[in-house]
Amino acid sequence: MTAVPAGPAVPAGPAVPAGPAVPGSAEPLLAARGVSVYFPVGSQLAARIRHEERLLRAVDGVDLEIGHGEVLALVGESGSGKSTLALALAGLRPVDRGEIRFDGRALPANRSRADRRRIQMVFQDPYSSLNPRLTVGGMLGELLRVHHVVPRSQVKAFSTELLTLVGLGESDLSAYPRQFSGGQRQRVAIARALALRPDVLVADEPVSALDVSVQATILNLLRDLRGELGLTLLLISHNLAVVRHLCDRVAVMYLGRIVEMAPTEQLFSAPRHPYTQGLLAAIPRLTDSAVTRRARCGSRPGAGSAPAARWRSRAASRRTRPCPPRLTTRDTWPPATSPSGR
Ligand SMILES: Nc1ncnc2c1ncn2[C@@H]1O[C@H](COP(=O)(O)OP(=O)(O)OP(=O)(O)O)[C@@H](O)[C@H]1O
Ligand SMILES: [Mg+2]
Repeated sequence: MTAVPAGPAVPAGPAVPAGPAVPGSAEPLLAARGVSVYFPVGSQLAARIRHEERLLRAVDGVDLEIGHGEVLALVGESGSGKSTLALALAGLRPVDRGEIRFDGRALPANRSRADRRRIQMVFQDPYSSLNPRLTVGGMLGELLRVHHVVPRSQVKAFSTELLTLVGLGESDLSAYPRQFSGGQRQRVAIARALALRPDVLVADEPVSALDVSVQATILNLLRDLRGELGLTLLLISHNLAVVRHLCDRVAVMYLGRIVEMAPTEQLFSAPRHPYTQGLLAAIPRLTDSAVTRRARCGSRPGAGSAPAARWRSRAASRRTRPCPPRLTTRDTWPPATSPSGR
C-alpha cells in the first residue's frame, strides 16, 4: 500500500441527481470542494517499514454548499464522518485535500482570527465545551475582549444581551457551568458561539445529550436565532424528525462521502439513494415489532469492504440507534454528482 487504501467497493450505477435549482446567491456562503480528511490507523512504524501509508478516509472528497441564511442538515450513521467534516469546515481540523471556501474565497490552512470568528461551533456535550473554572460572565467577557467584539465599557451589557437572546438572564453572568442544567449549559454554549457574531453556526448534535423536553426548547431557540439574526446553520443530527422540522436541505453522508443531497421535503418524500431509503426506513415507529424492524433493516454491508475502525464505531452505535440499512452490490453507490443538491 503506497497511498490511501481503497475505500469500500463502489458498485457502478447511475448518479443520484441533484434536486431542482432554487433561486439565490450564485456564490454559497460556505462551501467544501473535494474536501478529504485522513487519519492514520494501525501501526505507523510497521507501515513505514513496508513503505505503506495506512490511512482512514474519514472524509473522502466531499463537495458541500451552504447558502446565505440556509439551514442544512448533515445526517448519516455513526462514524460516517459528519463531525470530522464539521470540524474541517470550522477550521478546527486540517484538511488533507480540497479546500473550504467562505463567501467566494478559499480559506487558508491557517485562518486569520477574523475568519475563525465567522464560523462557530456548538458541540454535543456542553459541559466539556465550557471552561469549568470561569463564570459565564468571565468566559463571555474574555472572548469579547480578546476578539475586540465590543469596546471594553460595553462588555457586560453585551454579555447580558447575549444571555437574554438565549433565554437566560443577567444573574447567570456570575454562575459557573456546573450550576446550570444540561439545557441551560447548552444555551450558554450557544451564547458563547454567538458572542463572536458568526455568519455560520455549525451545531454538532446540539441536543442529543439532553432530555427530550429540553431538546425542543434548544431547537426552537436555534430556529428563532436563525429568524432574528439571519444565521446560516449546519445542523448535524441523528434525529430525522428534527431535521425535517428545522432544515431547508439535507445532505446524507455515508463512509466519508455525501451520497445524496436534496431539499428536505423532497428527500423525505422521494429519497433516491438506496442508503437514504434505508436510513428513512430505519426510523423506528411505535407500531413496529422487533421482527418487522429486522426485516426492514436487513444486515450491514460486508464488513470487509470498509475500514474496521468505521465498523467498530458503527457497532457501538447499533446498541442505541436504529439498525443501518441493507446495501447490496446491486444498489447504486456513486457519490452525488452535484455538490449542491439544489
Ligand atoms: N482523531 C481521530 N483519530 C483517528 N480516527 C478518527 C479521529 N476522529 C474520528 N476518527 C474516525 O473517523 C471516522 C469518522 O468519525 P466522525 O466522528 O467524524 O463520525 P460521525 O459521523 O461524527 O459519528 P457520530 O455520529 O458517532 O458522531 C470514524 O471512523 C472515527 O473512528
Ligand atoms: Mg459526530
